[in-house]
Amino acid sequence: MGAEPTGSEPAGSEPMDWPAYYDAQAGRSARSVLVEALRLRGATPPGAAIDLGCGEGTETRHLLRSGWRVLAFDADPGAEDLVRQGLHPAELGRLAFRQARFEDLPGLPPADLVYAGFALPFCDPAAFPGLWAGIRAALKPGAWFAGELFGPHDDWAGRAGMNFHDRAEVELLLAGLEIHSLVEDDRPGQSAMGPKHWHVFHIIARNPL
Ligand SMILES: C[S@@+](CC[C@H](N)C(=O)[O-])C[C@H]1O[C@@H](n2cnc3c(N)ncnc32)[C@H](O)[C@@H]1O
Repeated sequence: MGAEPTGSEPAGSEPMDWPAYYDAQAGRSARSVLVEALRLRGATPPGAAIDLGCGEGTETRHLLRSGWRVLAFDADPGAEDLVRQGLHPAELGRLAFRQARFEDLPGLPPADLVYAGFALPFCDPAAFPGLWAGIRAALKPGAWFAGELFGPHDDWAGRAGMNFHDRAEVELLLAGLEIHSLVEDDRPGQSAMGPKHWHVFHIIARNPL
């Protein structure tokens, strides 16, 4: 675990170029926190999943191809067409896509898995507590959360409209969940724009039965 997105993530405070990011992500494998959460579920049959900030849809498609029903959210108007690419009719029949901002999300339905890869940090800090409360409320007993939060040493810390949490805050957010994996990356790395310091928490947690 610990791979960061190597796309077109701009440094500084200019708006994110999501279409360029999606281009750079095309063809990669599903992210390891999701793959590992699915492995940890063992033989439990697939159920209802939510993918928050699904982007070009690699993880949504992975879930659909594994038999899940997926409710995928993204604010970007270009995401839906990309998510649907290459899916068979039966898989498309288990997909619902909603173009929505985290800040305006309706209540989330009960889910067996909530996945949010490198996406929740892009929620406005004022709206993040409500978004996180919605995620916690959506987790059925025994359901899994997999995804990332960013820490305050990240080069993007302080960007308008993004939220960051130190380790103590992350642990508080996860209180009451069984933490199966909490990997903290706090190190120099790369983005397409050049060197970037990443401070990322990779999380796999389960709501107790
Ligand atoms: C870094 S990408 C991650 C995409 C994918 N989950 C992945 O792991 O590659 C972040 C995604 O969050 C979406 N996003 C950014 N801000 C958002 C917001 N406020 N509400 C909903 N989606 C947002 C972007 O459109 C983008 O697709």
